[in-house]
Amino acid sequence: MKKDEFNNINQVGYWSEVKLDIVKKYAKAYSIILAKKKNLSHVYIDGFAGPGVNISKATKDFIPGSPLNALRIKPGFDEYYLVDLNGDKIDRLRKLVGENTKVHIYQGDCNKILLDEIFPHVLYKNFRRGLCLLDPYGLHLDWKVIETAGKMRTIDLFLNFPTMDMNRNALWRNPSGVRARDIERMTAFWGDESWHDVAYKENPQQDLFNKPGLLKASNDKIVDAFRQRLKNVAKFNYVPKPMPMRNSTNSIVYYLFFASQQRVASKIVEDIFSKYEKWGAQ
Ligand SMILES: C[S@@+](CC[C@H](N)C(=O)[O-])C[C@H]1O[C@@H](n2cnc3c(N)ncnc32)[C@H](O)[C@@H]1O
Repeated sequence: MKKDEFNNINQVGYWSEVKLDIVKKYAKAYSIILAKKKNLSHVYIDGFAGPGVNISKATKDFIPGSPLNALRIKPGFDEYYLVDLNGDKIDRLRKLVGENTKVHIYQGDCNKILLDEIFPHVLYKNFRRGLCLLDPYGLHLDWKVIETAGKMRTIDLFLNFPTMDMNRNALWRNPSGVRARDIERMTAFWGDESWHDVAYKENPQQDLFNKPGLLKASNDKIVDAFRQRLKNVAKFNYVPKPMPMRNSTNSIVYYLFFASQQRVASKIVEDIFSKYEKWGAQ
């Protein structure tokens, strides 16, 4: 593949390569375990799949994207459901995948397609199980998808919690300046308006202008509250502490969450996360 055959392929930072590695390692372990369970079939779902290929910022080499990694895993999944909003990316993905009747590729908004067309193929009563990756750039995911995945009891989920987009656009120290559209995106991702009470507390000290102000909570506090929602509202039994993904200046870009109904799944992911724990800014 020549680089100039592809416009618009994203250059990805080291943290994205780490994410791809983590998901690939778990997907392999998952597929090995599920392939042994003869009464169950297992599928891979990628809601924000991308074009199937990225360019490494560090080496300038092509690296496979998340759907291609999944397709290369042996033993294979029984089916693959891949979604992206962007038509050019879907065209590239279709070319890379080629003819394969096990692969179902959709162009459109995964917030609708997952609920209407894909999750109905992964029902508990039909002995189906799925590994689902939801990897948006920012606040582009609806809580309804996450909650449905949890309550179906068939899905193991990797989820990108987009801290940088939240902090830049929605969780300002002075929330009065935040655009209505960004408040809506935050509420859609969180599932209700309770994020506001998590993110802000009344500051008993007066500010410079002698007005009572608000104190903004730390990333840790906000992430921990979301972790509790995955357990208490979406009803995932196991949600290990998420992995912070840092950029070259050591800022947290997002947290990689994992959620599952199975203790063994959670243990495997904790073990994988721990191998990347010492990874710092590159
Ligand atoms: C971070 S990239 C995914 C990268 C991919 N997981 C990988 O590691 O190779 C996010 C993708 O989400 C797509 N996207 C954005 N909004 C979407 C939506 N509502 N539904 C489906 N895809 C969407 C973008 O076109 C982009 O390709």
